[in-house]
Amino acid sequence: MVKSLLIGLFILIATPAVALSEVDLITLDSQGNSRDKAGVGPVVFPHKIHKENHKCAACHPKIFKAELGANNITMKQNMNKMFCGSPGCHNSPKAFPLFHCNKCHTKEK
Ligand code: HEC
Ligand code: HEC
Repeated sequence: MVKSLLIGLFILIATPAVALSEVDLITLDSQGNSRDKAGVGPVVFPHKIHKENHKCAACHPKIFKAELGANNITMKQNMNKMFCGSPGCHNSPKAFPLFHCNKCHTKEK
């Protein structure tokens, strides 16, 4: 009884803290002009899924700076095996390929 009360209290306290410290979806939208020209929308990056499937150190700080808007990502760099196109990522059989534009970019504008 006391134990379940304690567990209940723990969940009550712990849950909001976890929810607040997690940005599940990060919108990457620093390249508006060239995106508009190419007809693709901003990128919505599912951070949570990536965190569940990989160690933080797989990406930070080697591939992405862990700071919102701090990475100046271009498709040329993605295609040159940087950022999203890093080895074992979206240029490999482990993940969908870079030519699936709309899996990363929101609806075309
Ligand atoms: C694996 C995810 C992913 C895929 C697939 C992808 N992109 Fe991107 N793309 C990005 C990210 C991330 C950025 C940087 C967004 C920002 O910060 O504005 C970006 C930026 C861009 C930009 C603006 C910068 C630049 O390079 O000029 C264009 C244009 C673009 N993408 C076009 C495309 C097209 C066209 C395709 C399909 C052939 C594509 N992207 C597929 C993730 C992706
Ligand atoms: C697949 C690569 C990848 C993995 C794995 C990953 N991240 Fe990130 N993370 C990113 C990207 C991309 C961004 C967005 C950076 C930007 O806005 O330019 C980001 C942003 C962040 C940010 C800044 C935004 C925020 O939420 O405050 C923090 C902090 C962060 N990551 C921490 C972590 C931690 C901690 C882990 C492990 C639990 C982790 N990341 C795992 C790619 C990754």
